[in-house]
Amino acid sequence: MIEVKELSKTYSIDGQVFRAVDNVSFTVRRGEMVSIIGHSGSGKTTLLSLIGGLTKPASGSVLIEDRAIWSMSDDELSAFRNRKMNFIYQFSSLVPTLTSLENIMLPTAFGDYGEDVAGYARELLALVGLKEKENSYPSHLSGGQQRRIAIARAFINRPDIVLADEPTGDLDEETEAEIISLFTRMNKDAGTTFVVVTHNKDIAALAARRLKMANGAVTEISGG
Ligand SMILES: Nc1ncnc2c1ncn2[C@@H]1O[C@H](COP(=O)(O)OP(=O)(O)OP(=O)(O)O)[C@@H](O)[C@H]1O
Ligand SMILES: [Mg+2]
Repeated sequence: MIEVKELSKTYSIDGQVFRAVDNVSFTVRRGEMVSIIGHSGSGKTTLLSLIGGLTKPASGSVLIEDRAIWSMSDDELSAFRNRKMNFIYQFSSLVPTLTSLENIMLPTAFGDYGEDVAGYARELLALVGLKEKENSYPSHLSGGQQRRIAIARAFINRPDIVLADEPTGDLDEETEAEIISLFTRMNKDAGTTFVVVTHNKDIAALAARRLKMANGAVTEISGG
């Protein structure tokens, strides 16, 4: 369902061309959970944002359900992103002027979601253990709590694909275990496809397929 073909992203630094993502190809099947590990600066965040349609590649293509996302118009791409996939960013990404519940519901603001969005948002809030923080603003939440709101938000539009960048980076072990079980449930019950950048061994172990990034290149460690 996700096909990454000869994908590269370059940055020019002081006239030198630097390849943050270097000729990467791999396929992720529907319902698969794939983890990506690799040292800091190896290109993991850059790769996720290329797949998610947030950063334009220098060359190569990303196909999602056989559609080349980088040949879509901006409008098509954002509509596609709204329906198909969602992100859990490496760093805080909540809107400071919105409450927890409003932040979780935000991805549904731009589409037609006939169902009870607020009800599902409350369900997700409970699943990440923050029922009592429904009306709190991000500035009144801890870093880990903000992270959990961002995780809940990623599921609100019932995406086929979740791209997660170090989702449990700032969580304690117990909370981490809850998030892992949430991911497992979404993967098993809803068939959500996951691409997860992680240093967490438990998440990496959950994934049937593990990829490793080094200097912008990807190698398969297991699965495939
Ligand atoms: N906008 C940019 N301009 C120039 N170089 C960049 C830019 N964004 C990223 N890079 C460089 O690209 C490389 C890959 O960065 P990336 O954020 O993808 O790494 P990462 O694997 O996610 O690292 P970490 O584990 O620390 O999050 C790094 O060397 C970084 O300095
Ligand atoms: Mg990163």
